[in-house]
Amino acid sequence: MKLEILPSLLAADYGRLADEIRRAEESGADALHLDIMDPHFVPNLSFGPDMVALSRRVAPNFYRNVHLMMSRPDLYLEAFAKAGAQTIQIHVEADCDLHTELPRIRALGVKPAIVLNPETPIERIAPYLDEVDEVLVMTVHPGYGGQKFIADCLPKIEWLRARRPAMDLMVDGGVNATTAVDSVRAGANQLVAGSYLFGKPDMAAAVADMRERCRCFLR
Ligand code: DX5
Ligand code: ZN
Repeated sequence: MKLEILPSLLAADYGRLADEIRRAEESGADALHLDIMDPHFVPNLSFGPDMVALSRRVAPNFYRNVHLMMSRPDLYLEAFAKAGAQTIQIHVEADCDLHTELPRIRALGVKPAIVLNPETPIERIAPYLDEVDEVLVMTVHPGYGGQKFIADCLPKIEWLRARRPAMDLMVDGGVNATTAVDSVRAGANQLVAGSYLFGKPDMAAAVADMRERCRCFLR
């Protein structure tokens, strides 16, 4: 499997967004993770499709992975696809019919992915596994960057990797040089890191170091 590292733009310096997007691309990271929040689904607000469009304008070749922390992602799929989302991740806890919405994402020319929160049992996503290209296991309660990694979520990754040896499995929340290795050992191959990577003056060195530490544990 390929190890992928995704800086989360949520942790960028918003006074220099274009430079921050370029810094993430030039770090050697594999894709940009864009966290879209509505205050019904999480206790916070972030940004919308315009930020995805900005990322495409500034770094057209830097893959855009869009995480919708929204109660009604179904109302915004076209807008995010049009703005340049290349993967759209929707939560199993969202208030919409995933058997309808996941195929709709694919029909828009975007890869569909499913996400589950720390308190959600892994069995909840089983009915959708054949409809997605990727599963994101949250390792914090979504809403804010900079939280502590919840290691109790790792058995979900093990459960998924045992059943889907070739599927992309992502972790998001509290990922740093240590918890990245724990996640890859459990079977993850995609790592989102916000505050850890954007907080480093030399992001490229941090990305290279994370890759090197995880390499020998990759399945
Ligand atoms: C949490 C978001 C994460 C967040 C991760 O609500 O989904 O993507 O940006 O930030 P860190 O890496 O700082 O935990
Ligand atoms: Zn996220």
